[in-house]
Amino acid sequence: MEQYVIKGGNPLVGEVEIGGAKNAALAILAASIMADETVTIDNLPDVRDINVLLGAIKGIGAIVERVDAHTVKINGSTISGMTVDYEYIKKIRASYYLLGALLGKYKKAEVALPGGCDIGSRPIDLHLKGFRALGAKVDIQHGLIAAEAEHLKGTHIYLDKVSVGATINIMMAAAMAEGKTIIENAAKEPHVVDVANFLNSMGAGIRGAGTDVIRIVGVEKLHKTEYSIIPDQIEAGTFMFAAAATRGDVTVKNVIPKHLEATTAKLLEVGCEVEEFDDAVRVVCAKPMNHTQVTTLPYPGFPTDMQPQMAVILGIAQGTSTVTESIFENRFKYVDELTRMGATIKVESNIAIITGVEKYTGARVSAPDLRAGAALVIAGLAAEGITIVDDIYYIERGYEHFEEKLASLGAQIEKVSSEKEIQKFTLKVS
Ligand code: EPZ
Repeated sequence: MEQYVIKGGNPLVGEVEIGGAKNAALAILAASIMADETVTIDNLPDVRDINVLLGAIKGIGAIVERVDAHTVKINGSTISGMTVDYEYIKKIRASYYLLGALLGKYKKAEVALPGGCDIGSRPIDLHLKGFRALGAKVDIQHGLIAAEAEHLKGTHIYLDKVSVGATINIMMAAAMAEGKTIIENAAKEPHVVDVANFLNSMGAGIRGAGTDVIRIVGVEKLHKTEYSIIPDQIEAGTFMFAAAATRGDVTVKNVIPKHLEATTAKLLEVGCEVEEFDDAVRVVCAKPMNHTQVTTLPYPGFPTDMQPQMAVILGIAQGTSTVTESIFENRFKYVDELTRMGATIKVESNIAIITGVEKYTGARVSAPDLRAGAALVIAGLAAEGITIVDDIYYIERGYEHFEEKLASLGAQIEKVSSEKEIQKFTLKVS
């Protein structure tokens, strides 16, 4: 088991490059099997979730050639099976994107039903509602979702709740259905747009992605393409908040500033300065931070994937703040860990009431999930003394070279795998 060990207190200063968006990449990799020609995908983040999904894609018989850490070629012409095992689904829920991709292409798919997860119950009823509306027969038996159709027929689908996953999964299946599909109340996240752009680059007819009505004219075949994934807005936001928490000065490069507007707005509210460039943002946070209120919402609202990082900032801001989580019911699992570092947070239902303290103090904590894990690292960077973050495999699901990027900004952080190494680090920094 590996840990991060951190000596806090250094302001982060310098420049950091952001990688490709994990959540866009997961859907794009799944969609790439829909062509029978070679699809080249670039700006792929080299993180655990991506590597698991590539395993699942290989597992159904597609050719997967990893050109380098950030580039992959996929050819779906050799697919021999329509069944995605629980082995993959249990490691990464997003393998369910293969349901939409296989159903669209072959009109048949079997994917293990994902269970609950670290951030709460994660239903997939809306995905299934969409497939059924397109004419598929969908059954759940023996832990498998089996979807099958003679023909998929375009239709009008209203999503009762805004869902990134359902929007993307339905969009993929509809891209190869007969006729026209309209998805209403669609998710507008940048990665929904990226997946639509990717499918269109393979010959799909998708219009309106990025608005709440997506119109899709189905095509019979998709063809080869070369595509570069958009930058990861959550990785970018995480570094922006790390800069703020440590009272640093960091330029976050290779980003689309428009995608960071909600994150930027909150940093301005707490009193940091944010300068926007064409493809970079600079965060300077010299003064003490102020309290504020934040509610997570679908894009363009404040992202739930930045909620724990926001709470960490507010934990050391002046006054009392509130953080309301409106997307997932169990995303405050980090609160007890942060309390061990000196935070004063009370959770009532889906609201965290945070009374700012002057500083965090280092402690041994465990990452409860991906984003909360990253947030605890930020707290450690801002804390007095040594913080050890356990269970960092969660963090490695979505952040590439996290500790190296932080160290390049002046953080004292190392990845270790034994008590001896922790002691060695502690001696070195004391
Ligand atoms: C995506 O999850 C992301 N994952 C999550 O990122 C992110 O937190 C989430 O969107 C919200 O932005 C990937 O893209 C792989 P949803 P997803 O469907 O698609 C409810 C991270 O840290 N819902 O938009 O699963 C659901 O319970 C991860 O990178 C239904 O009720 O999220 C939630 O309340 C974690 N029925 C809301 O909709 C459904 O069929 C939004 O979920 C589907 C969802």
